[in-house]
Amino acid sequence: MLMQDLIRKKKEGKELTRDELSYFINGYVKDEIKDYQVSSLLMAICFQGMNKEEIANLTDLMMHSGDVVDLSSIEGVKVDKHSTGGVGDKTSLVLGPLVSSCGVKLAKMSGRGLGFTGGTLDKLESIPGMSINLSKDVFLKQVNDIGIAIIGQTGNLVPADKKLYALRDVTETVDSIPLIASSIMSKKLASGSDTILLDVKFGSGAFMKTLKDAKELATTMVEIGKTLNKDTRAILTDMNQPLGLAIGNILEVKEAIATLKNQGPEDFKELCLEASSIILLQAKVAKTKAEAKKLLEEKLNNGEAFKKFKEFIKSQGGDLKYIDDVSKFETAKNIVPIIAKEEGYIHQIKAIEIGNAAMKLGAGRKTKEDKIDFTAGIVLVHKVSDYVKKGDVLAYMHTNHDSYEEEKEEIYAAFEIKKEKKIKDPLIYEIIS
Ligand code: URA
Repeated sequence: MLMQDLIRKKKEGKELTRDELSYFINGYVKDEIKDYQVSSLLMAICFQGMNKEEIANLTDLMMHSGDVVDLSSIEGVKVDKHSTGGVGDKTSLVLGPLVSSCGVKLAKMSGRGLGFTGGTLDKLESIPGMSINLSKDVFLKQVNDIGIAIIGQTGNLVPADKKLYALRDVTETVDSIPLIASSIMSKKLASGSDTILLDVKFGSGAFMKTLKDAKELATTMVEIGKTLNKDTRAILTDMNQPLGLAIGNILEVKEAIATLKNQGPEDFKELCLEASSIILLQAKVAKTKAEAKKLLEEKLNNGEAFKKFKEFIKSQGGDLKYIDDVSKFETAKNIVPIIAKEEGYIHQIKAIEIGNAAMKLGAGRKTKEDKIDFTAGIVLVHKVSDYVKKGDVLAYMHTNHDSYEEEKEEIYAAFEIKKEKKIKDPLIYEIIS
């Protein structure tokens, strides 16, 4: 077999067989096929796409290019959840303990943030003492004992994706639905859970800018799951404005704790309940959405979800002193209000601009090597559709920087205020199963 034959076939819009895809993936992982040929094939895939069978084969081959996690020693249903990433998305911190307090097991491998999106691992590490590096045995035991563990990726999971993603990044071949879907799903499938819930976000602060693209990506990933016999469902959610009020690591942990005590922002709670209720249906803990939501509300109200969060943090070395009293968390030295210069209804709080400003304040990384300032970020006071008067505080900027005028202007510019009323857009658009 020759790589140039595969490239030609795809260039002409023809289907690649499983054997051909296997030749490409295995040869590339073993360094037998060169980057220049792979980038040419990737570009052909970007233009010609792939059919369902090709996408499922590609995903399966990528998944098996390295280790596949074996969770069979964990009793009960093992669930997993993945978000395509956004601004202020701290859902795993709440959803994890919430579903695990209902009896399902979450053995989750998470990632770090890059650019304007935050990562669950960074948020967890902002809790003093918290470790995200557990050995495989400790990880499995913790999930068996308390029902939840969240760690960084261990072992040699999906090496094909590591190489392909790095190449796609520099060859302008990231934005292809078959390539994104196989990249995400190969990693999720290699993580070994029984069920997968995907939160596919769309909007200015998301990877997918439109609902149409997000729907296509979600449908493709759900189909991959079906073909490979894994219960996979997806939820399409808005990321035009940040999720909840807090953006930045410690700030988001505090908001997650408030939400676990049923005192969190309405939109964030809505997403946590919706996503968690789908997980309970997947795990067959509840028969209907209404039954699932009732159980989840109970867990928030009776303190069991928060108790589970504390068990999880304690098991991974986190200092509960900060969880019991969030005022003990370190804060940034400057907390600067962003003031409304005009009166009206908020039509937009552009997530990408808020995310970028938060990153510049120190809350995120511009490059993989950057160090995060856990205290930095932004706390919104208002959300889209709120009415504000001139002089009202729109948000607070948290920073240790001494000069911050540029970020202050950027945050202000993210708010679009108009005289006309603004009807709230829905947060959750569709569930795909
Ligand atoms: N996230 C991934 O893991 N892979 C992609 O291709 C895009 C986003």
